[in-house]
Amino acid sequence: MLSAPASSDVSTAPGGRRIAVVTGASSGIGEAIARELARRGWHCVLLARRRDRLEALAAQIGGEVELCDVADRTAVEATAGRILQRHPAIHLLVNNAGIPARGTFLQTDPELVLRAIEVNYLGGVWCARALMPGLEIASRQGGAHIVNNVSVAGTVAFAPAGAYAASKHAQLAFSRSLAAALRGSGIHVHALLAGFVETEGFPQRNVLKSRLLRRFVLQPPRVAEAVVAAVEKNKSEVTLPWFPYRLISIVQAVAPGLIARFVGVADYRPGSV
Ligand SMILES: NC(=O)c1ccc[n+]([C@@H]2O[C@H](COP(=O)([O-])OP(=O)(O)OC[C@H]3O[C@@H](n4cnc5c(N)ncnc54)[C@H](OP(=O)(O)O)[C@@H]3O)[C@@H](O)[C@H]2O)c1
Repeated sequence: MLSAPASSDVSTAPGGRRIAVVTGASSGIGEAIARELARRGWHCVLLARRRDRLEALAAQIGGEVELCDVADRTAVEATAGRILQRHPAIHLLVNNAGIPARGTFLQTDPELVLRAIEVNYLGGVWCARALMPGLEIASRQGGAHIVNNVSVAGTVAFAPAGAYAASKHAQLAFSRSLAAALRGSGIHVHALLAGFVETEGFPQRNVLKSRLLRRFVLQPPRVAEAVVAAVEKNKSEVTLPWFPYRLISIVQAVAPGLIARFVGVADYRPGSV
């Protein structure tokens, strides 16, 4: 059953369905976002590479499956073409697909340094560009949204995951720049900056060295709720949880030397990277 949108800003598609494309929906945060959206009446197009995971989720929540590597621009364009044929209006794009890249810049395999940029940053750029015709149609029907699942690593140069942090800084710059470019267009861009979240791609509880940081590890459903709230309340940037991460982001901006000292000790446990 469709639930009423919490805000008049969120439009309803003909036939009563709002269409969301969720990248990286086969596990972790993306899967939780798709489940939360479906629970609230959205129809989800689930995009990732693992067919079995996506099909199992689609069967549970009534969504559609698209197999696609977001780093492959040609594949993204072909996938978006198929989605737009079925759904001319796209009300929500969640750029969530992402990979970890643990280790310092000196330790990380060069291929992974490159891949982190291609997936975590450029993947969202290609998806937003390719689905823009559908987002524009939805914007004229009352509103469209792009959520970029960045990370606190988009504002803090976390040394033990250097290439990951750099890719997330790029993703946040993309998100902010796109938000400015689309201002007044009816397409709202949101950035989610979550701290550590326990997922299969990013196991945190057992690998973080800092006991303090381990205390702030979240579960994916909490992040999914924040994504839906950001859309429904039209929040441009959300840090989750606000404490301590917003504070850390501010300190990074005004006193980078202090953060460098802190992240120097906030490493992963030996052997866990
Ligand atoms: N966990 C955290 O601590 C944390 C905190 C803040 C932000 N984030 C961000 O949250 C997002 C989701 O991560 P997660 O923690 O939920 O990890 P996860 O469980 O490993 O999920 C990652 C998702 O991305 C998909 N994916 C990876 N590479 C892809 C590619 N090239 N093309 C298409 N899909 C791809 C994976 O699906 P397939 O393998 O099936 O393709 C999977 O569905 C990432 O962007 C991450 O940076 C995570």
